[in-house]
Amino acid sequence: MSMETVHVELGARSYDVRIGPGLLSQAGAHVAPLLNRPRVSIVTEARVAGLHLDALQGALKAEGIESEALILPPGEATKDWAHLNQTVEWLLDQKVERKDVVVAFGGGVIGDLAGFAAAILRRGVRFVQMPTSLLAQVDSSVGGKTGINSPHGKNLVGAFHQPALVLADIDVLGTLTPRDFLAGYGEVVKYGGLGSLDFFEWLEVNGPALAAGDVALRTEAVRRSVQMKADIVARDETEQGDRALLNLGHTFGHALEAATGYSDRLLHGEGVAIGCALAFETSARMGLMSQEAPSRFREHLSAMGMKRDLADIPGDLPGANGLIDLMGQDKKVDAGRIKFIMARAIGEAFVTDAVDLALVHDILEEELAGR
Ligand code: GLY
Repeated sequence: MSMETVHVELGARSYDVRIGPGLLSQAGAHVAPLLNRPRVSIVTEARVAGLHLDALQGALKAEGIESEALILPPGEATKDWAHLNQTVEWLLDQKVERKDVVVAFGGGVIGDLAGFAAAILRRGVRFVQMPTSLLAQVDSSVGGKTGINSPHGKNLVGAFHQPALVLADIDVLGTLTPRDFLAGYGEVVKYGGLGSLDFFEWLEVNGPALAAGDVALRTEAVRRSVQMKADIVARDETEQGDRALLNLGHTFGHALEAATGYSDRLLHGEGVAIGCALAFETSARMGLMSQEAPSRFREHLSAMGMKRDLADIPGDLPGANGLIDLMGQDKKVDAGRIKFIMARAIGEAFVTDAVDLALVHDILEEELAGR
């Protein structure tokens, strides 16, 4: 099966996202043209390393590229100051030079952390994203957002630093748990919701088969998602406007993640999917979109076996006021007003701060009562 390429057009910082099966085994050939000397430093985590690091290092070696790997603990807790410090010092120990390349090999945590380390090391070295989760392939590896969490909140410390190349091997998605795959699918369906009814309809037809493992459909879903993200990032790299559309479902989703302690009660992509449904519900109740649209969106989540509303989140949740307070902690708060992504239809999202919080309160209260 052929490889798909999406070009992210950012002038001197432009790069390709290459998508398809078998890319891990061809990594050396893809990375070699970027190198000043035949060696790279790989930052990864233990679970990914156990499954795929030998294959990656073997593929690099086949092209004469030496590599060393830093293997960090898996999980969100790794995206902190301590592991950033460890990563930067390790890269300096490796004598990484300005013209060398760091490889971020893992999911969103590793991509964000290693990307940020590359951004600040010697005031910026190049890095290659090799995303191994669906969420990282369709979202976090593309667009140059890098960073770590602070005790004050997620992703509060970071930099824009674009990768030099993204290699998304569709085969590695085969080693994800079904739950992790579907959480990543929450970000895929978000793209349909924010910018393309046509893509949403394609997902309604093909979602179950791609979740079951169809590699051609997975490749196409990642390609279309990345193409939509690339188009948005090309017009608004640093999120002065349109890029905020990529946060459809995130204002609600982040509040739900915070309310569940960023635990496995609710994975990020699960929160995004429920958040998209809540954003559509709010849009419909504001008279912006048809009443049928939120139900149609939720029916697709059900058909995929995903969480679709607050009733599907196990354990206690705060009340509506508590959830709204948590939304106020969102990075998108501007002069004290919460920015929401609302929609006129599935595939027609827009950014606004003109959302009546009393209405949001009512919707959350009704959903919480239904639990
Ligand atoms: N994940 C949202 C963005 O990259 O802007």
